[in-house]
Amino acid sequence: MRTSHLYVISLIAALLAGTLMGCSASSLPAGDAARGEARFADTTVGTSGKSCNTCHTEMGRGAKSLVGKKPYDHIIRDCIQGPLQGDPGQEQVIADLLAYIRSLR
Ligand code: HEC
Repeated sequence: MRTSHLYVISLIAALLAGTLMGCSASSLPAGDAARGEARFADTTVGTSGKSCNTCHTEMGRGAKSLVGKKPYDHIIRDCIQGPLQGDPGQEQVIADLLAYIRSLR
């Protein structure tokens, strides 16, 4: 459990740093929600064997835990680079994930 606490703390620190530096959304390609839904459960987005679903499901609410949240691309990049140990520069994947999360109700 300690590791996950550390992870949450570093993620929050990274988010704060991004906010303070005035990080704005980069220009992403057009996203596709259906592809994003597949990506959300895709363990090949990273190399750790996890998918977005692994964690957002373990938190008990699945992708629905993200309903109404502002899906900033830098948060998704942090989640890809951190727990998924993947390349945070996968622009099309990020655009699709954003489209999917925005489509949730
Ligand atoms: C190791 C577990 C883990 C994995 C895997 C993971 N996340 Fe996260 N994610 C977190 C934690 C922890 C937070 C911050 C706490 C929260 O918002 O619930 C977070 C926050 C977020 C947020 C912001 C939610 C908010 O409150 O505004 C989004 C959006 C998000 N993740 C999307 C994703 C996507 C997309 C993926 C897959 C590429 C992913 N996450 C993979 C743990 C994870």
